[in-house]
Amino acid sequence: MSVRVRRIAGHEGGLLRELRLASLREAPEAFGESLLEAESRDADEYTARARAGSAGDRRAWFVAEEGAPPSPIGLVLGRRRPPDTCLVFSMWVAPPARGSGVGRALLDAVEDWARAWGARDVVLWVFRANAGAITFYRRLGFRRVATGPDAEVGAPYHAWAMRRPISAER
Ligand SMILES: CC(C)(COP(=O)(O)OP(=O)(O)OC[C@H]1O[C@@H](n2cnc3c(N)ncnc32)[C@H](O)[C@@H]1OP(=O)(O)O)[C@@H](O)C(=O)NCCC(=O)NCCS
Repeated sequence: MSVRVRRIAGHEGGLLRELRLASLREAPEAFGESLLEAESRDADEYTARARAGSAGDRRAWFVAEEGAPPSPIGLVLGRRRPPDTCLVFSMWVAPPARGSGVGRALLDAVEDWARAWGARDVVLWVFRANAGAITFYRRLGFRRVATGPDAEVGAPYHAWAMRRPISAER
């Protein structure tokens, strides 16, 4: 499978909406937002989100694509938490593409972006019941954060905070 990961461009609000709705339809239990909430946002809001994440070091959406013409198969959002933590949200890979390294490639893209602005670690929240995703993150070197503010943020939602340090070199 030839997979390409790239940053979503400012004019690609429609693609962002398509992927976000696909992920919420397919894996509603994995995310904090509901499909209804995501569907109720109008096209302008997705355009604004795509634009806000298309350049700079505040946030970045990445899409994974395969084939020609390219067909979207995965999504992830990286957000900077100043000064030097990168938060990860909305990680999703389409079921037929799973188990082939697409999730890993998406996180690599986020990490490369974050390293460029000096991030020292990546932090995310995953629902405790999401055993598959927890195994995935562990395989990639994430470890549970059991104490401190990030753990407290997740606790009311039955979510774990997980963290991976970013090495200076890839
Ligand atoms: C979790 C998810 C993103 C993983 O994507 P993926 O493309 O299948 O992951 P990869 O193929 O890159 O897997 C990387 C490693 O994790 C392992 N892994 C991935 N999913 C796994 C699972 N469900 N159970 C056990 N191991 C898993 C792979 O075997 C691979 O290990 P390896 O390096 O030894 O080969 C995908 O299953 C998904 O979208 N799930 C639904 C949405 C979701 O839960 N998102 C997370 C929200 S916090």
